[in-house]
Amino acid sequence: MPPWLSLLSSAQRKEAKFDSSNWIQLATIGTDNTPRVRTVVFRGWSKSLEMLIYSDNRSQKFDELAFNNNVEICWLFFKSKCQFRFRGMSTIDLSKEKLRHWDKLSEKSKSMWNWPCPGKHFVIDQLNDISFNAKQDISNNFAILKIEITQVDQLVLRKPVHIRRRWIRKNEWIEERINP
Ligand SMILES: Cc1cc2nc3c(=O)[nH]c(=O)nc-3n(C[C@H](O)[C@H](O)[C@H](O)COP(=O)(O)O)c2cc1C
Repeated sequence: MPPWLSLLSSAQRKEAKFDSSNWIQLATIGTDNTPRVRTVVFRGWSKSLEMLIYSDNRSQKFDELAFNNNVEICWLFFKSKCQFRFRGMSTIDLSKEKLRHWDKLSEKSKSMWNWPCPGKHFVIDQLNDISFNAKQDISNNFAILKIEITQVDQLVLRKPVHIRRRWIRKNEWIEERINP
């Protein structure tokens, strides 16, 4: 178990009643080498402790990740006045687990993967066509990103001095206290 996981879980528990406690900022590198960032939902951990994110494989981020799969994730816990930053590498889950994740989604959530292509020009008729089937087969657009975490940076705002720690994964996790 990575040493930072219990700290993260404790911050999550304190804010569990807010939907926003699972909103994280995923940063990628654009195909023009400039930064991109967007909010996504944290969907849990895989068995080998990769961070899981559901997404639409037609969205821009997939071109960016094919170009460079290094990512950073920023996760703010406002009650704990605490920020975690995760560095890692993203891969796309092609395992059978994908179907299990899809089945956990509500029918309304599933329908989002049949929306018109993200980021393309808005056409009103396309939006009217969106159907809410009672039982939807797994969409070809549904993708799960698995982020293998290689470094974690935690900052806790405290008086009189903030606390900052960093964990780097070598063979095992190495913890270092660093200046805030
Ligand atoms: C609260 C919130 C949660 C979101 N959750 C997700 C998510 O889980 N997965 C996702 O791909 N996009 C999610 N989005 C949309 C993304 O922020 C973004 O607009 C979309 O993924 C397209 O990004 P891209 O063009 O950089 O690929 C969410 C947006 C908000 C505001």
